[in-house]
Amino acid sequence: MKVEGKPTRTIWLEENGESVGIIDQTQLPHRFVTCSLKNLQDAAHAISEMLVRGAPLIGATAAYGLCLGLRDDASDQGLATAYEVLLATRPTAVNLRWALDDMRTHLSPLGEGERVAAAYLRAGEICEADVKANRAIGENGLALIRAVQEGDKPVNILTHCNAGWLAAVDWGTALAPVFAAHKAGVPIHVWVDETRPRNQGASLTAWELREEGIPHTVIVDNAGGHLMQHGKVDLCITGTDRTTASGDVCNKIGTYLKALAAFDNGIPFYVALPGPTIDWTMVDGLAEIPIEEREGTEVSHISGLSASGEVVRVQVTPEGSPVANPAFDVTPARLVSGLITERGVCPASREGLLGLYPSRR
Ligand code: MRU
Repeated sequence: MKVEGKPTRTIWLEENGESVGIIDQTQLPHRFVTCSLKNLQDAAHAISEMLVRGAPLIGATAAYGLCLGLRDDASDQGLATAYEVLLATRPTAVNLRWALDDMRTHLSPLGEGERVAAAYLRAGEICEADVKANRAIGENGLALIRAVQEGDKPVNILTHCNAGWLAAVDWGTALAPVFAAHKAGVPIHVWVDETRPRNQGASLTAWELREEGIPHTVIVDNAGGHLMQHGKVDLCITGTDRTTASGDVCNKIGTYLKALAAFDNGIPFYVALPGPTIDWTMVDGLAEIPIEEREGTEVSHISGLSASGEVVRVQVTPEGSPVANPAFDVTPARLVSGLITERGVCPASREGLLGLYPSRR
């Protein structure tokens, strides 16, 4: 997508062919800052501290992180160490393990001398595949948006967290259909859940939509149910960090409550994902998916722009009040109207997914 008119991706190989450029997403929406990952530790830090975030981008960064690790040590031990360091960065998005497994499968059989070049090649392919998949998700989701369109009235879409291009290499997952609709001239308006505690909706999704000139309104997380009750939401689309083989969907904390409200109000609730977000080893999302617990300071504190233009962090809870910060929740498949994938839209069920990915049978 474009930033100030310039085509931009979230991750790229820098001109030296070694270091990896990223957008530091912790600085958005107030500052657009890019930085360079030069070694394995830089890549691991970028993922764990959420300079990069969003399931597909976490996978892409891990793939390049492995390249950076192999530059220092391309031995079997070096490969194993880089794999473990990167795998430990965040627990919930399965794209991380998927990308690392893919890289290891390609690189393990090679000799040390061939590994670095092959790693960069494969990481680049993973990024290109992500872009291609997300474009297809956009087209497949566009048909769903058109299906709820009434005359010239804008289609009101509610989304949670950030599953736009900043969460992937480009295009995004949940926002890919929104971008496709906007480009196709379908009138749309997006309700953007702020998504406490880190506010990925208010700071990242709103920024993306503003950059593209797409009508949107930021709402507090608790407003969605009310808007649905009053007929102001036609469709919900979210992303996911891990979808089980039975169609349970794990996504940013609060997604489940939106799915419940949508179900109660008869509003379609779709989840968009590329194939690598499916964890074929898991069936029961609630019992099996590891839910990241993040630092309590994300709840007790909040940051924003002060009147003097400084980014400041302030405390919102009384000193000493305990806080809890589960970062994801699981929406059971029964509450999901369908899964939008690069291969088409399917029911959120084992049979639905196998229909699109028959080799997994
Ligand atoms: O904690 P984050 O910001 O990495 O969480 C991101 C989300 O929950 C997204 O909705 C999900 O990764 C889908 S991204 C295309």
